Amino acid sequence: MSDPQHSVLLNTGSRMPLVGLGTGKLRGLETIMLSVDAALAAGYRHFDTAAVYRNEVEIGQALRELLPKHGLLRADIFVTSKLGPRDQGPMAPAACQRSLDQLGLEYIDLFLVHEPGTEGLRVEDPQNSANRAQSWTALEDFHSRGKFRAIGVSNYTVRHLEEVLASCKVPPAVLQVEFHPRLVQTELRALCAQRGVCFEAFSSLGSGALLSDPAVLEVAKGCGRTVAQVLLRWAVQQGIPVLPKSCNASRVRENGQLFDFELSQEDMDKLTGLDCGQRYDLDPTSVA
Ligand code: A2P
Repeated sequence: MSDPQHSVLLNTGSRMPLVGLGTGKLRGLETIMLSVDAALAAGYRHFDTAAVYRNEVEIGQALRELLPKHGLLRADIFVTSKLGPRDQGPMAPAACQRSLDQLGLEYIDLFLVHEPGTEGLRVEDPQNSANRAQSWTALEDFHSRGKFRAIGVSNYTVRHLEEVLASCKVPPAVLQVEFHPRLVQTELRALCAQRGVCFEAFSSLGSGALLSDPAVLEVAKGCGRTVAQVLLRWAVQQGIPVLPKSCNASRVRENGQLFDFELSQEDMDKLTGLDCGQRYDLDPTSVA
């Protein structure tokens, strides 16, 4: 998985590994050390955290302690973090620096605006949009100083993405959104493809809900892989990076084994056909 072929080229010219460890549910140094250690051993070179996960300090510490054990350098891995909704707008520059400090990194490979809204504002408040613009300017500043190698957005709809594309100096390199066979995000994917933004998936397992879907179980049985591997492979086979999260070392390993099998076109179509617009995470549609 550490093979550079298993990565996508961003509009910055850098490559991002197709599989990253999602860390949204990882809390406490012991759990984080265990997951990060299993991930590095299994070949993961991409780690996705966020200010709101409240684990940047532990992720930074785990990476500092574990990289030498695996014979790796900082430059061998790709680290993503995100600006939390409470820090949108005037607070953004301080929050960007805080993520660097908490992770204990000289630079972050990819830094995202976590969601279009600002904590404490009503969704329809136009200040949401003004704050997003101010946040983006802060990210552009950190990018220009080499502190954020790439910048992007998360949980944006077509409207939010078009807004930043129309006003930015530096276009987003990545859009990270919920993506799985029940939410195939056709419009967003088309916009990303057209504008050179890498479309990246989170919640590939539908927060666990898709693990018991009969159609997915049937595909998994047919190809002799686990349901989680089928769901993750369905995305990476389309060139879409995934961020599986697990607190369990054997599931971390399982989720990384995606490049030694292929789904038939028939199975790919069967999975895509499950689309019903179902979300398991936040719905950003009505944020002004
Ligand atoms: P756990 O940490 O106990 O492994 P999503 O990424 O869609 O939000 O799903 C994450 C959830 O799926 C977590 O609760 C995680 O639980 C579980 N999970 C992750 N990988 C697997 C797997 N390979 N098989 C079964 N469940 C998994």
